Amino acid sequence: MSLVKMKELLEQADKSDYGVGAFSIANMEMIMGAVKAAEELNSPLILQIAEVRLKHSPLHLIGPVMIEAAKKAKVPVAVHLDHGMTIETIKQALELGFTSVMFDGSHLPLDENIKKTKEVIELAKEYGATVEAEIGRVGGSEDGSQDISMLITSVEEAKRFAEETNVDALAVAIGNAHGVYKETPVLQLGRLKEIDNEVKTPLVLHGGSGIDADGFRNCIKNGVKKINVATATFNNVVKRVDELFKSSESVDYFTYHQKVIEGAYENVKNHMNIFGSNNRA
Ligand code: 13P
Repeated sequence: MSLVKMKELLEQADKSDYGVGAFSIANMEMIMGAVKAAEELNSPLILQIAEVRLKHSPLHLIGPVMIEAAKKAKVPVAVHLDHGMTIETIKQALELGFTSVMFDGSHLPLDENIKKTKEVIELAKEYGATVEAEIGRVGGSEDGSQDISMLITSVEEAKRFAEETNVDALAVAIGNAHGVYKETPVLQLGRLKEIDNEVKTPLVLHGGSGIDADGFRNCIKNGVKKINVATATFNNVVKRVDELFKSSESVDYFTYHQKVIEGAYENVKNHMNIFGSNNRA
């Protein structure tokens, strides 16, 4: 099966009404856990890392591990750069063989976001890669370092953006936010439905951690085909490792290593079952 273009996964999902999970990883063990879950459930998978996280996991090291894991997987796996901010990093990811990149121009005025997204699309074309963009602004920053306020996606802007760029996947802001939600998220499903009616592009839901199963299912019914989950996986890994250290006086390295794999595996598996991507590989 192995490394595939993200666009293919989203097209398949669009035909059969399920969501493909895009799971953020930070190391080899998390990659192994995510692939294990996908293989066990016979589910497609998107492995991703955001540009802001590359200070912890340098792209030239983590990138090849992601690609090799995808190539060897028994299920289709797309490898995606999340929240690409600079052309340099986007290009580096494409050179490494990432099959998908996001250009996040959500902080830019609409015209500029359109212009820059088009430039990224031109570049990605040379590599046959998929491009995701963002319109409106998802709340919070990917790594929690900035307090970014939410800007709900306008239907007119989404329509114009999709028509002018012909981007492959479009992230929308409908009450979702990155990181841990301070209050239960209230998703504006009416707005999502309006966007879905006007825009043919597969939609992307960022800020998956903390959204409940009904919330996910309602989003999938209304055009969301890619769902990003990061914090919940990182937190589950930390929880499992913490339990391990609390349960034993002395822990050997490889027991710890195994807990990281398991922590990622559990969270990815739980989400894939909710997204309905099991048995869709
Ligand atoms: P969470 O950390 O809230 O799951 O968000 C993930 C995300 O949207 C990555 O782009």
